[in-house]
Amino acid sequence: MALLLFIMFMCGAISSHIASRSHADFRVSGRALYKLDISWPRNPELFTGQVFAVAVNHLRGRVYVAQRGENIPKVLVFSTDGELLQAWNTSSLEMPHGMFLANASADPTLWITDVGNGPFGHTVKQYSPTGKLLRVLGSPGKAGSSLSPLQFDQPAEIFIHSSGEIYIVDGDVNNRLIKLSPDLQVLWMHAERGSGLAQFYIPHSVAVDRYQRVWVADRGNKRIQVFNSVTGDWLGSWGSCFKDDAPCSIRFTPDQKYIVVAQLNTNQITLLEAPPIGIIGQCQVISTIELAEDVKPHLVDLDLKSSDLYVAEIGAGQAQKFVPLSAAGV
Ligand SMILES: *[C@@H]1O[C@H](CO)[C@@H](O)[C@H](O)[C@H]1NC(C)=O
Ligand SMILES: *[C@@H]1O[C@H](CO)[C@@H](O)[C@H](O)[C@H]1NC(C)=O
Repeated sequence: MALLLFIMFMCGAISSHIASRSHADFRVSGRALYKLDISWPRNPELFTGQVFAVAVNHLRGRVYVAQRGENIPKVLVFSTDGELLQAWNTSSLEMPHGMFLANASADPTLWITDVGNGPFGHTVKQYSPTGKLLRVLGSPGKAGSSLSPLQFDQPAEIFIHSSGEIYIVDGDVNNRLIKLSPDLQVLWMHAERGSGLAQFYIPHSVAVDRYQRVWVADRGNKRIQVFNSVTGDWLGSWGSCFKDDAPCSIRFTPDQKYIVVAQLNTNQITLLEAPPIGIIGQCQVISTIELAEDVKPHLVDLDLKSSDLYVAEIGAGQAQKFVPLSAAGV
């Protein structure tokens, strides 16, 4: 019996270790929740820059990939089957950093933070799904910390709640978490650099869960901080899971059972247990996907219908798709 279990374990370990193309290596430790889909995208050579962000429209089956580089399309649009559908032809994006697909059901738009130093940089921009610039938050080309007019300094990421409320983590200079109303009034903000409660050092990614909690990857402090989305009150902090490497991105699986975190330097995707309402407690790692060396996963997004996980990989210069293992109950 023990031998049989051992053989089954070895087979599991081998089958989850795939090495069919460069950077496609991965290993899972803890509970196996996801496996790599090596068939997505169909033509990985279409990636021509450094891939920084991904965003998924689960209702239309679209995956947006933001990349940086000279004279390349800054956003590539794929189908969830891996077909390239469009390359945006916009000159209004300099250095895309974070991306969010808002309002999937009614009127989908893409929100992209731009950390460029040129005439369009230091802004958060809203685009149509085909790349038409609709709205610019911030003062293009002018880094700053003003609230009126609104300014940003290398804004890292954005999360738009279904209510239309906007959460922005504003970079390594301002170290701010800002909540805006749909008509762009500042509702609350934390804007102090430091390592104390509700202070930040390089806030890098933000997500809101179904229990009115705002989760922030506080990268420079190697921790996640949690806030009440209505009041902005600090609720808790997780650090013990990130001693080796900081959390870089934060998203929830559609069932909100797991928090998905990318760790860039250790090349890991970590799935943590999402705590129930009323409790933050200590972090608990359920599963770790260890990517090949130098893949450098940066930001992630999930398909809210299929639970598929997309990862933007700066080092590997590509986005990859991971699919839930059927019995995992993700
Ligand atoms: C891309 O945009 C530029 C400038 O707006 C325009 O000159 C060019 O024709 C466009 N290319 C395509 C393929 O649409
Ligand atoms: C979502 O789309 C509807 C319909 O177009 C629109 O009225 C609403 O303002 C949109 N919400 C956001 C947050 O963009």
